[in-house]
Formats: sequence, C-alpha cells, structure tokens
Amino acid sequence: MVVSARLKEQLMGNDHNKGLPLLSRTTAPAGRRLSHKGMLKTFQERPLLLIPVTCVLALSLWTLLASWGCENSIRSNCNSAAAVRGAAQSGPASLPSWFNSSCPLVYERIPYAEMRDRKARPYLMGEQQRPQCMNCAKDELWSHFCQYKSHGPACPLYDQDTLFETIRSRAEMGAEGVREMMEMTPCDIFGYIRGRTVWLVGDSMMQEFMRAFQCFMYEFWDLETKELKDLLTDEDVKAKLIGGCNLADHMVKELLPMRERIGMRRKDIMLVNIAVWVNSEKNLRANISMWANYYTRYKQQLPFVIWRDASVQHFNTPTGDYKCDGCPDAQPRLDDKGFSCKPLSSVSLLRDNTLQSDDPAMGVIVRGGWRNGLTLPVIEGLGIPVMHTWNQSVPLWEYHHGFQEKDDCTHWCHPSGYQLWISQFYQVLQQQVHALPPLPAAATSTSL
Ligand SMILES: *[C@@H]1O[C@H](CO)[C@@H](O)[C@H](O)[C@H]1NC(C)=O
Ligand SMILES: *[C@@H]1O[C@H](CO)[C@@H](O)[C@H](O)[C@H]1NC(C)=O
Ligand SMILES: *[C@@H]1O[C@H](CO)[C@@H](O)[C@H](O)[C@H]1NC(C)=O
Repeated sequence: MVVSARLKEQLMGNDHNKGLPLLSRTTAPAGRRLSHKGMLKTFQERPLLLIPVTCVLALSLWTLLASWGCENSIRSNCNSAAAVRGAAQSGPASLPSWFNSSCPLVYERIPYAEMRDRKARPYLMGEQQRPQCMNCAKDELWSHFCQYKSHGPACPLYDQDTLFETIRSRAEMGAEGVREMMEMTPCDIFGYIRGRTVWLVGDSMMQEFMRAFQCFMYEFWDLETKELKDLLTDEDVKAKLIGGCNLADHMVKELLPMRERIGMRRKDIMLVNIAVWVNSEKNLRANISMWANYYTRYKQQLPFVIWRDASVQHFNTPTGDYKCDGCPDAQPRLDDKGFSCKPLSSVSLLRDNTLQSDDPAMGVIVRGGWRNGLTLPVIEGLGIPVMHTWNQSVPLWEYHHGFQEKDDCTHWCHPSGYQLWISQFYQVLQQQVHALPPLPAAATSTSL
C-alpha cells in the first residue's frame, strides 16, 4: 500500500505535541492557513466553501496483492493464518470462485463478551492485533495515530471512552450489526479487496475515511508514505490529481478521464461521494446529473463503483446543515457569527438502525437529509450500490473536534464515524460480492 505524503504531512502538522491535525495548512485555498476568523470570512465570501479545507483527492492506493507474502507477516504465524480465518470467517454462504479468504496475517477475533466486560475494545477502535502485532510496537507516527493514542485528529481519551460505551450499550440492547461491527477484523475485509486497488474519491470526508481505513489495516503495510508527486511521472496527471475532487466537475472532467494513466482497472473498487461541498439544490442536481451521464456512458470501463451517501452535519442550525441556499429545511443562522456543534436531540437511532423523531421539523433528518433525498434516487436508478452512513452518524455530534477549526461540525476526530463507516463498507462488499468483477485466476495486481 502506498500512502501519499500529503496525508502524512497533514497528520503531523506543525506541532507534534499538540497532536492537532493541520488539514488547512496544506489544503486551505491558495495555501493559506486560515484562522478561525479568517475562515468565517471565507465562509461569507464564498458560500460554497463549506468545509475548511479544499479537497485533496482522497486517493487510496490499496493494492493488496494476491501474492502478498509471508515475509511481511509475523513469520511463525503465517501458516496458521488460514486455520484461524477458517474458524472466524463469517462471510456469505456461497462465494464466487475468485474469492480467497485466506489472510496473510493472523487476527484473532476478539469475542464480544470480552468487550462487553470492558476487557478489550474493537479492532476498529485501535485495539492491537492478536495474538501479536508488529506495527503496533513501532514508535512511529502512524503506529501511534492508528492506535488512537496520539497524533493527528485522534479523539481525546474521554471521547474514546464515551464512544466505546455508546457502542457497547447499543450492542447490549441488541442493535442490528453492532456486535459484528465490534468483532470485525481486518482479515474479514481482506478477501474482498485482495488483488484490487480501492480508490476513494471524494471530498475531505472521504479523505478522513481513507485515514480510518488505512489505520484499520495498518498491520498490513510498512507505514511508509511516499510522495504522490514522485510516484507519478506524468506531469499532466500530477497537476490534475493534486487538484481536488469535491465536485462532479472535478471527477468527470479531470480525474476520471485519466483513469487508465493513473492505473485504475476494471477489477478495482471505487468508492465515490459528492455532497457537502454543494449547498444548493440546483447545483447538487446539476452535479449528480453530470455524474450520472458520465457513469452511464463509461460504466463498462470504470472500476466497480460504490456510492457513499452524504454525511450528517451538526452545526447549530435547525437541521445541523451549515447552510443550504433555497432549502426551506435548512436555513442558515441569520447572524452567522460562528457556530458550535449540537446534537440532533429529538432524533433517535433505533435498534434496527432506522431513525425516529416526533418533531416534524426533523423529518428531513429522518429521511436522510436533503442531499441524500436528491442524490440517492438517481444513484439507485443507475444501479450503483450505496454505502449508507447517515443513520449511524446522526448521534455522533460530540466527536466533531480535535480538528484545527474548533467549530467544524462536519469532520470528526478518530475513532468515531469513519470507523463505523468501515463496517458499512464491509457490509456493502459482502452484499455485492457476486457483482464485483472477477479476478483473473492468479490475481496479481500491478497498479502503481
Ligand atoms: C489464496 O491466497 C493465498 C495467499 O494469500 C495463496 O497461498 C493460496 O494459494 C490462495 N488460494 C487459492 C485457492 O487460490
Ligand atoms: C456542482 O456544484 C458546484 C458547487 O455548488 C458548482 O459550482 C458546479 O457548477 C456544479 N456542477 C455543475 C455541473 O453544475
Ligand atoms: C435510516 O432510517 C430511515 C428512517 O427511519 C429508514 O427509512 C432507512 O431505511 C434507514 N436506513 C438504513 C440504511 O438503515
């Protein structure tokens, strides 16, 4: 796996000790680092800029080779990997012939009972690989961040406790899929992405998802990051790739036409989203139809596409949206004098993962937000599978910090929403396993 150095730079920020991520430093418009005041000013001048960063293309290069060797593993355990996996695999009953669930690492499943008794946490929350781990012991940036001990936008420990207790109590009440999520191991997902590159294309929320995913799989890579600019030799590609990917315009006009040159293959998986950068219905409609036209025309040549729904925001506005020009349900605050995040307290997430509220004003939230209301029917109409994150993200209002901009109610610290999304991603892969492009018999991927 290769990770672009830009992410590492962001993760490190200027000041190690504070452990604050500095997304804006490398990605703010025109390279400016925005102060809080500056950001608000920018908000006012540029109503379209919702997130305090311009996007770096969230591009994950997970090329996990079928030939991934035991030399990268803990040698003595390599042979027993298959046995452990055999006992632990809980995938669909019938799997396509290309599917190979043997995992190059041993990840013992942590039994729910142990987590219920608070003796362990889920791997998704940074628990160390069992029975033993390698990267976890390194005194190194990614190792620290991926265990959510320090660095980058790691949630403060009390938040991690709160999150764990919340998840635990949902599991105790029998909420659907929660125990499975808690017990999930990186090896569960490995068989689905083996031999493919997973391309994560979208805005900074997707970029954060990439970090989360990278971290979940961090025992699988060497923790080395490489400069994207050194990996790419094609100057034109380089220039466009380091642009942005927040909007359909970017994806359709810049990124996707270069798909072959950057090594995208049919057998790959591409997770896409367009959402929070677009704040008016009219523009969102135009964006989605641009994407739809492109997809319809080129779907035979694209990787297997999965759509991620728009994520929930918790700004101090009636529906949590930052603002929505022309949306009656999401009015901006009149004064626009800063904001603090707030819970969508009259909405509850039920055991079956549906939402409920007695407050008619929250109808739009219960229905998945105005953006999803507009985009998902189009995406579903195209037959693109959707990774649903909205409902599970609604309660997560208190994890919007640890970021540089304290009033950012869009991004979260880690672990929180993004880690829950990984389990949603896994669910979609399981549901779609028969639709994924088959791998050649001896799958050897060579992308980048
Ligand atoms: C599955 O992958 C492993 C390497 O991880 C390989 O040794 C094994 O032969 C593969 N099995 C099949 C049935 O292709
Ligand atoms: C997509 O939305 C952005 C931001 O609202 C807008 O600038 C752009 O023109 C839209 N794209 C299309 C194709 O209309
Ligand atoms: C989310 O909640 C809504 C409203 O209760 C429900 O209709 C929808 O099916 C839920 N979505 C998922 C993915 O569970």
